[in-house]
Amino acid sequence: MNKQYGYFDDQNKEYVLTTPKTPIKWANYVGTLDFGGLIDTTGGTVVCKQDPALNRITKYIAQLPQSEFKGSTIYIRRKTEQGYQLFSPFYTPCLEALDKFECRVGLSYTRWVVEAQGLQIDVKIFVPQGSSTLLQDIKVTNISQQTQAVDVAPVYEFTHFDALKQLVNADWVPQTMTLKAHAEDSGHVVLEQYAYMKRDSAVNYLSCNRPVDSWEGDRRAFLGDNEFGSWSKPLSLQEESLSNSECDRGDNVGALLVKLGELAPGQTERVITQLGQVPSLQEAEADIALYRDEQAVDQAFAELSGFWENYLDVMQVDTPDNAMNSMLNVHNPRQCHTTKNWSRYLSLYQLGYGARGIGFRDSSQDLIGVMAHMPQEAREFAERLLSVQLENGSAMHQYFPLTMEANEGDSREEPDCPDYYGDDHLWIVLTVAQYLKETGDLEFLNKPITYYSKTLELSDRSQGSVYEHLLKSIDFTWNNIGEHGLPLLGFADWNDTVNLPSGAESLFVANLFGKALKELIDIASAIEDKANLELLNGYYQEMKQRVNQHAWDGEWWVRYFTNEGEPIGSHKNQHGSLYTNGQSWPVISGFAEGDRMLAGLDAVNHKLNTKYGIMLSGPGYNGFDPQLGGVSTYPPGAKENGGIFLHSNPWVMMAETIAGNGDRAFEYYNQINPAFHNDNLDVFQSEPYCYPQNILGAEHKQFGMGRNAWLSGTSAWTYVAGTQYILGIKPTLVGLEVDPCIPKTWPSFSVKRRYRGAQYNITVSNPQGVSSGVASIKVNGEAISGKVLPVFNDGEHQVEVVLG
Ligand code: GLC
Repeated sequence: MNKQYGYFDDQNKEYVLTTPKTPIKWANYVGTLDFGGLIDTTGGTVVCKQDPALNRITKYIAQLPQSEFKGSTIYIRRKTEQGYQLFSPFYTPCLEALDKFECRVGLSYTRWVVEAQGLQIDVKIFVPQGSSTLLQDIKVTNISQQTQAVDVAPVYEFTHFDALKQLVNADWVPQTMTLKAHAEDSGHVVLEQYAYMKRDSAVNYLSCNRPVDSWEGDRRAFLGDNEFGSWSKPLSLQEESLSNSECDRGDNVGALLVKLGELAPGQTERVITQLGQVPSLQEAEADIALYRDEQAVDQAFAELSGFWENYLDVMQVDTPDNAMNSMLNVHNPRQCHTTKNWSRYLSLYQLGYGARGIGFRDSSQDLIGVMAHMPQEAREFAERLLSVQLENGSAMHQYFPLTMEANEGDSREEPDCPDYYGDDHLWIVLTVAQYLKETGDLEFLNKPITYYSKTLELSDRSQGSVYEHLLKSIDFTWNNIGEHGLPLLGFADWNDTVNLPSGAESLFVANLFGKALKELIDIASAIEDKANLELLNGYYQEMKQRVNQHAWDGEWWVRYFTNEGEPIGSHKNQHGSLYTNGQSWPVISGFAEGDRMLAGLDAVNHKLNTKYGIMLSGPGYNGFDPQLGGVSTYPPGAKENGGIFLHSNPWVMMAETIAGNGDRAFEYYNQINPAFHNDNLDVFQSEPYCYPQNILGAEHKQFGMGRNAWLSGTSAWTYVAGTQYILGIKPTLVGLEVDPCIPKTWPSFSVKRRYRGAQYNITVSNPQGVSSGVASIKVNGEAISGKVLPVFNDGEHQVEVVLG
């Protein structure tokens, strides 16, 4: 019997932990990249404004054990005859027993409800919509029969704004760290914190809604005894009051001691802290005043809930499968919102110290996952991505959002390898296409956007329309081909870790090129650009021919050719003989047809599928091989070396629906639903409310263990596979298409979808027990021909679809 850690509360759209002792650290996200970060389930917080590497506020050392203080906590203390008794509602860092523990992981907030020592503590942490303030709303209730004197001490530890410098320089950094206290006559205090060079431009502050008894700004003073006082028992909290320390250098903390006085049985008191960043403290005055008001805080939380209601309402499904419903209605679109904000930049695994930034390929894909829910924001983001595309059509691999400075990613570090990735620039074609299909805003194609240059000022850079950018993406791949006429790999393609010597060719890029061409062909046709239409069709046919001529090895599709023309991912290879993406992508591009399409997908099913998901490739490479690069740094079964790299699973689902196999597509969908691991957490270990990036594969002893939760392309693509390919509700340039491919046993399902200003209430019935094939569609009672619903732009419309 596996241990239970928590359960899904679908009513409140929360996952509820009933113990703090998760197998590994689990996270939730608050706010957005503009201001926000992650909070773990034991109260640790990473907050930053606009960039986790370049403007970080709290110091979170992710490698510390769960039991340690990490950036923030709350102490509750009661005076007893033996002195002060402490506990934390997060359990960490005091580790004092709690009678009840509930941690509710919600939509951009986490709420703890715990009981200990005759008190109930209810803490909710969130960032109000559009604000640069993190709120902690703490309610303390005396649930004992006696009157109790209770104090509350919220604490944050600050970091240098340059997160990496904090870790690598222990003289300059502390010499610059400054904390000042501003006490008001009312007894309220605002602690102001900055690294000296930010004094006049970006200051952090901590304040609270109640008068404080005292405070501490210096970690030495807070922990006490030359820091031999510990985070679990800070010595300053054994004194009646804190020492009101400021800090002119050193480790800055913000600790406030709030005395609630004697609480009668049943009495509740509320403490609301705010942690924010502003250019100067004056500019925080309005917010500080606002969030001292309890009603304003309630209102801010209601607005946040309203945002989520509106966001999720864009698409709500009701299928015969409850686990799919809960994923598609809440957790998956929520995770897409998270990946849209944080790309692969800040998580408990991607630590946000500046090695990554916003990934071009990653975010291009993430945007597809939020396109229905926030198309305008996605478009703005796509514009930023296009602005780091080079004039030759290739793209910079990543950029830092605060400075918009871009770089070539890992490819810049290997002098013998190409300094571009073969795939990056092609993904943005899919993103822009998805935007056009969602909104119909073809005008966007004309918008001028600059090309990236490392040396030229923004005003001196050349520019092209969005459409020209996309055509250049195609040109770059068309012009960079190898011996078989297939696209060059560059440093790597989607699989970052296969880094072959220069001259290697990538079948992934060939197929992504095919998919991008299909999108662009539709666009060229919609805007009646006949010249490009002909050219792009020609490229498509030619590449299809080359792929079919060279990449079929007799049993399945090859994944790469080395610079010496040797296949990788062929049945002729001893290791890495079959690659999942090698089989799914020729179907997505339309290059694979008939028997070859089916044989490739069957090979994946027979050789790479497991009960925890489909492995990326197999058998794993056994030992480091510099010719292969990164993939061989992992033992067999881990990550890209034959692990269940989840991002590639939805592509197989999509391919199976294209092949008409709804049962298999759904089986693949279902088997990776993280909620199913809720009863298997001692094996899976990772959060059951979001997709992880990787699960150890069958060749590994720890088969089934998930890692790298939250920030994975799995989120966007599984959402696309579930909504657009299995349920078949697919935006196109001319309207919303309905073309499901479902399990044969489903009698019906329904979907409510907001699309271009109108509400479509779609019911699909399946009287013949088929997977696919639309027999008839009625819209508002009238039969229509074809599968594309009319664009109404407003109103509510009833759509009845019959399969058969
Ligand atoms: C990571 C990277 C992503 C890459 C994938 C496969 O998730 O962020 O860009 O495609 O690994 O290597």
